[in-house]
Amino acid sequence: MAKAKVIYACQSCGFQSPKWLGKCPDCNQWNTLVEERIERAFHPRGELALGSAEVASPISEVSAAGETRVLSGIKEFDRVLGGGLVPGSAILIGGDPGIGKSTLLLQAFAALSQSGHTCLYVSGEESRQQIKMRAERIGVTSPKLLLLSETSLEGILDQIKKVNPSVLVIDSIQAIFTSALPSAPGSIGQVRECSGAIIVLAKKKGLSAFLIGHVTKDGSIAGPRVLEHMVDTVLYFEGERGHSFRILRAVKNRFGSTNEIGVFEMKEAGLREVSNPSEIFLMERPLGVPGSVVACSMEGTRPILVELQALVSSSFLAVPRRTTIGVDHNRVALLTAVLEKKMGINLFNQDIFVNVAGGVHVDEPAVDLGIVAAVASSYREKAVDPKTVLLGEVGLAGEVRGIAQVEARVKEAAKLGFERCILPRTNSSQLAHLRDVELTGVSSLAECWQLLF
Ligand code: TYD
Ligand code: MG
Repeated sequence: MAKAKVIYACQSCGFQSPKWLGKCPDCNQWNTLVEERIERAFHPRGELALGSAEVASPISEVSAAGETRVLSGIKEFDRVLGGGLVPGSAILIGGDPGIGKSTLLLQAFAALSQSGHTCLYVSGEESRQQIKMRAERIGVTSPKLLLLSETSLEGILDQIKKVNPSVLVIDSIQAIFTSALPSAPGSIGQVRECSGAIIVLAKKKGLSAFLIGHVTKDGSIAGPRVLEHMVDTVLYFEGERGHSFRILRAVKNRFGSTNEIGVFEMKEAGLREVSNPSEIFLMERPLGVPGSVVACSMEGTRPILVELQALVSSSFLAVPRRTTIGVDHNRVALLTAVLEKKMGINLFNQDIFVNVAGGVHVDEPAVDLGIVAAVASSYREKAVDPKTVLLGEVGLAGEVRGIAQVEARVKEAAKLGFERCILPRTNSSQLAHLRDVELTGVSSLAECWQLLF
């Protein structure tokens, strides 16, 4: 009998070593190497190689047609997937506990099963009764939605072969284990083998598989990074504690853009789509208060208006504090330096806090002008007109530079009742045909100041 091979795998990054080490040389974590036996492990790629009869063919002869998308009917969800679900794809969804991953997929599956697709919901964490209770709460009943409470990989694969679903969810991948490996459920080896086997079966049968993944304390999906490479799409479901808004974000997508976001609100009866997020993010905005400015960020193809808030107050620290939430810390440091140098504002003895209201993240240069204006407004204790939106990238010389997709942004502002847009001069000349909002082009911070303060 062949001797079982023992390896030591890091539970944090997946690094493997033939002998035990106290510190993982790859991710520098202590005490994360755990013994794993790999005697009868599945070899998903080996299995594929055996049955594969593919021959290399010229790209000109390969037809691109055949990618049919399945729509779940939940628009925000379909958009993040890149315009619907691609049959045979594997999708990993991560998110904090209790954020609503199970609820989201149950609702998506309810919609899919109602349009005639056989859906299999496998839960390794909850009993069927628990899922049923949640389903009742969100009003789901459909004979095509099958529930399975199972943690054994072999049992799950068996059921998949029997019921032949067209979509599948595994809730969660960390709860599933294969008896081929002696390590505990949730360990690196188990997660890798189980997801490998499920993904191979999904590709073979053309079914779309959703894998729900737990996240670690630092916010990444628990388990090996290779898991993210194995799947086609990685989505994160995120939201702030205490806020009812949830944002579904793609961080990897082989079938679409990764810039798209889907916005939901957690209600009594499940998640509700928010089709106009700008309205929601601006709902509680204080009007006429210093330090609050509205800017517009593109999230994929969709413009979203956000409220940028800044608080500048005298610092009693040797090194004043610069805290940012929702915007890049370095970007704010850079813009602060531009403000000091070009506009003569002394910020070296001031603490600066910048926040994007509603728990949104923006990482576009187009919000620069908004950040600068918010900081200056708080410093000067002078409010910016609440009916004005600021757009533009700020350069190191204090110039205001043109931005992309400006028409979509201005239209969104007009739709929400804003009366004026301050935008880069290069852009304003392209938009002469827009009538419902006053456009003021500026080419430098100094020009912008004359309008604002
Ligand atoms: P859940 O989908 O179980 O989260 P996850 O699978 O990500 O751990 O959602 C749990 C939370 O959502 C729970 O705190 C209660 C809340 N919730 C509602 O507010 N309304 C609802 O209709 C449902 C089903 C859940
Ligand atoms: Mg859950």
